[in-house]
Order: sequence, then C-alpha cells, then structure tokens
Amino acid sequence: MIETVLVLDFGAQYAQLIARRVREQGVYAEIVPVTASYEEIMAKHPGAVILSGGPDSVYREDAPAPDRRILESGVPILGICYGMQWLAYALGGRVDPGTPEYGPARAHRASQEDLLLHGVPQDFKVWMSHGDRVESLPDGFSLLLESEGAPCAAMGDARRGIYAVQFHPEVVHTDYGREILRNFLFRVSGLKGGWDMGSFLEREVERIRETVGDGSALVALSGGVDSAVAAAIVQRAIGERLTAVFVDHGFLRQGEGEEVERAFAGRSLRFIHVKAQDRFLEALRGVTDPEQKRKKIGNLFIRVFEEEAAKLGPIEWLVQGTLYPDVIESGPGKADVIKSHHNVGGLPDDLQFRLLEPLRELFKDEVRLLGEELSLPRSLVRRQPFPGPGLAIRMVGEVQPDRLELLRRADAVVRREVEHAGADSEIWQWFAVLPGVRTVGVQGDHRTYGEAVVVRAVSSEDGMTADWAKLSHDLLQRIASAIVSEVPGINRVLYDITSKPPGTIEWE
Ligand code: XMP
Repeated sequence: MIETVLVLDFGAQYAQLIARRVREQGVYAEIVPVTASYEEIMAKHPGAVILSGGPDSVYREDAPAPDRRILESGVPILGICYGMQWLAYALGGRVDPGTPEYGPARAHRASQEDLLLHGVPQDFKVWMSHGDRVESLPDGFSLLLESEGAPCAAMGDARRGIYAVQFHPEVVHTDYGREILRNFLFRVSGLKGGWDMGSFLEREVERIRETVGDGSALVALSGGVDSAVAAAIVQRAIGERLTAVFVDHGFLRQGEGEEVERAFAGRSLRFIHVKAQDRFLEALRGVTDPEQKRKKIGNLFIRVFEEEAAKLGPIEWLVQGTLYPDVIESGPGKADVIKSHHNVGGLPDDLQFRLLEPLRELFKDEVRLLGEELSLPRSLVRRQPFPGPGLAIRMVGEVQPDRLELLRRADAVVRREVEHAGADSEIWQWFAVLPGVRTVGVQGDHRTYGEAVVVRAVSSEDGMTADWAKLSHDLLQRIASAIVSEVPGINRVLYDITSKPPGTIEWE
C-alpha cells in the first residue's frame, strides 16, 4: 500500500501546490473535494490529511465542512488557513473576524517543544492570506506560533496529532514552510517517504488500465513535452491499443517533427503522422485575434483527430497532455480566463471522445521527471515548454507561410545560441516572436526595410509567474548578430523585459 496524504480541498487556490509540496517530500498526495464522504476518505487509507485553505468564513451558511468523523479517526491532520479556522470552530474554539492580513508577516514561537516546529527559528517570515482568525483555542490545543495579525498563528494537539497553521507553508514566500510540512509528514504523522515518480508511474499505469479497460485510445501529439509524456504513459498501460496521431499543423519549430517521430520509433503503438499544414494555414487566413487563432487551431486539431479516428474504427478515448497550470489558467472554476489553452479551452462542445488526462495533477517539472522514468530521450523531455498552437501565437497578426519561415529560422538561432552558451539550464523558455513591426535598417551600404524580431527568455518555476531572464550582454549580442546575418528579412532585434504578471510568457 502506497503511503497517501489526502489534501481536502476547501476551494483553495493552493490545494495543488500543497499536494505538490508533499510529493516533493517523497510522499504521494492526492486531492479530494471537501464533499468526499468519510467512507470515501477512509477507503484511501490516508496516512495523514491536510485541510486546505479556502475563501470562506466558517460562519457562512454554506461554508464548506468535511465530515466531522475524520476528527475522531486517529489520522493526523494539518489545517492550513481556512482549514485551521474550521478545526478551531469544529473542536470548540472561537473564530472571529479580524483585520484581514494579506502578504508577509512575522511569526514568533510561543512554544519551544514541538514536533511541528522542529528546527524552526524563534522568529521567521510567513505568508498570510486570511480574514477571520482564531481567538481562542479548542481544549487540548497549545499555542505554537503568534503573529501580529493572528494571535494564534499555529496550534497543535500532540495527543491527537492535530495541528494547524494560519499562514501558507506551501508558498515559497513562507520561510521554513518546507520544514513545517516535512515535520508534519515525518515527525507528527510518522510517514516513511520514499515515494517517487517511479511509484506515480506504476500507479497511473494501473489506473489507466482500469479506466480504459479493453477500449482503445488516440493521443494528441503536438510536438511538446506534455503530449509526448502523456502518450508514453498511456502506451505503457495499453500498448498497441494506443494510436498516436501526430498532427503537424505547420507551426512547429525547426527539426521538431523528425524528433517526435524518432522518440516514438520502436515503441509498440500505432503512429500516424498527419501533415496538415495547408488546412491550418487556410483556417487561419485573415485571422489576427489571438483568442480566435487559439480556438481555430484547437478546433481544427480535434477535427483532424476525429477524422483519423473515423478511419481507425471505434476509439473511445482521447489522451491529452493537460497540466495543472493549463487547467487553472483556462478557468474551470472561478479564476478568470487568461488564455484559452490549446489543451483545454479549444475543445469543441461536440467532442466525440472521452478525455484521458494523466498529467492533470502535475506541474511541468514533475512531468519531466515522469518522462525520464518513461525513457523518453533527454532532448525531448528537457526541452523548453512549447504551446500547443505553436509559432502561430508567436506571430502578431496573420499567419503567413513566409513569416512563419522567418520566425522559425530566427527561433532556431535563439535556441542554438542560448543552448550553446549553457544558459538554458537556468531558464524556463527562450524563443523568438515576430511582433509584426517593420523598420528601416542598413546592411552593406543598402537600405533595408525588414521585420523586427523579439527575443523572449524567462525564468520561472512553473509557468504561472515568470521573470525576464538576465541573459548576459555578450549572449544577447551574439543572438542579435546571428539573427540579422543568418535570417534575411530581419533587420532588427529587440529583447522583451516584461515579467509575468503583468505580461504573459507568450505574446498571444
Ligand atoms: P502564458 O503565455 O500563459 O504561458 O504565460 C504559460 C506557459 O504555458 C505555455 N502555453 C501553452 N501550453 N498549450 C500549451 O500546452 C497552450 O495553448 C499554451 N499557451 C501557452 C507557455 O509556453 C508557457 O510555458
């Protein structure tokens, strides 16, 4: 039995991040909705339960609340933010509206001897985000931490193994957040750890086998890491009953089509390479709006799959490499739609497949580890993220074949120079964008009137926020010289120094 931590989701922004932080400690974590019944929770044999934060007040009429029987189950519990308030309230403490606190705060230890705070200093920075606060502790609990805005910033009942923190230990802005989670997992809950991506793989392969049964699946290969890893994991589960349809929409980077084909050569699956460049160009004729581009590409992509599927006979499942950040940025819940991600928002309403999304809970870096477990080539697994709609959304304005070629060649130079300088190991993405601006230049005594190209390079942990990469001036100069000398038609190179937010990583 794999040790499992359940994260009970009260509607938190951070539930996935909590699960990821637990997995980083070598313990498998899974999210369950707060509405899960006690029986459903216990059927998963949790080694510990974490109650996530959430936007509500415990006094609201429809405030989320788990089945109280978990309090008596003997399973160690850690409440975070709203999770703490619910614990205090449910166990007889008092929760009152306080002055809301958002952002950094200092926490001071109120107790020296505690498992949860082992190795944590007397005073440290924490990240707060709450309205209500705990005013009096339930019986059996000791005060562990105080802060200015929260008289009880952490509390615990060692006898019952129930702990709670008002701040967010899962975010990087809380110092010692990792230590506190680690103490909860190993010192309080007595878990052993040792879980890794290999175990995730085994479990997921089993789950896919059960889900798909003796059905068959199609996978949407797009050229990126995510769809390749999703394909490889499903291939491991169902072998030749997986057909990989690699739709070359014509917006791929230089050499990419061949690389994908090579990665899947020799694996037992059906591999179909559809060269649909002309259809995609036709669909995008005259389209300049970024969302329209995304939607048209997403829709046509699926149509092409459906046509292939129709040729192959009945296929029930469609595999997609949707990651967790795609899910939240496309806004299934309350979050604003920032962009319709190709994997999610672009799906047509009359989709004829059932969706299989084995990476839906993972962040990019976890997917790379999984790809390595699946023996995909390092060059593919470690490659920078690439959006489903490809170069089409890195080109402001209409997508035209000659502009595509310009962009493809400029992008190849950026990639080559960054990789050659060894700067790629420190950054998240590095690519070229055509902003659709023409400027005057001079080359070899001749006047030129060419396109400008923007170089975009960013550092990021997971693509959700990003900073522009501080590439050396030498490297920027090499990139600029190489682009203008190797790509006729481009006579100016700009460097994008916008972080995310307020920008996004891609231009469209
Ligand atoms: P943005 O531009 O939203 O991008 O800051 C965040 C990360 O997501 C990638 N991206 C996509 N990935 N399908 C994908 O699979 C898409 O439609 C898509 N759009 C953006 C982007 O490259 C960056 O890493």
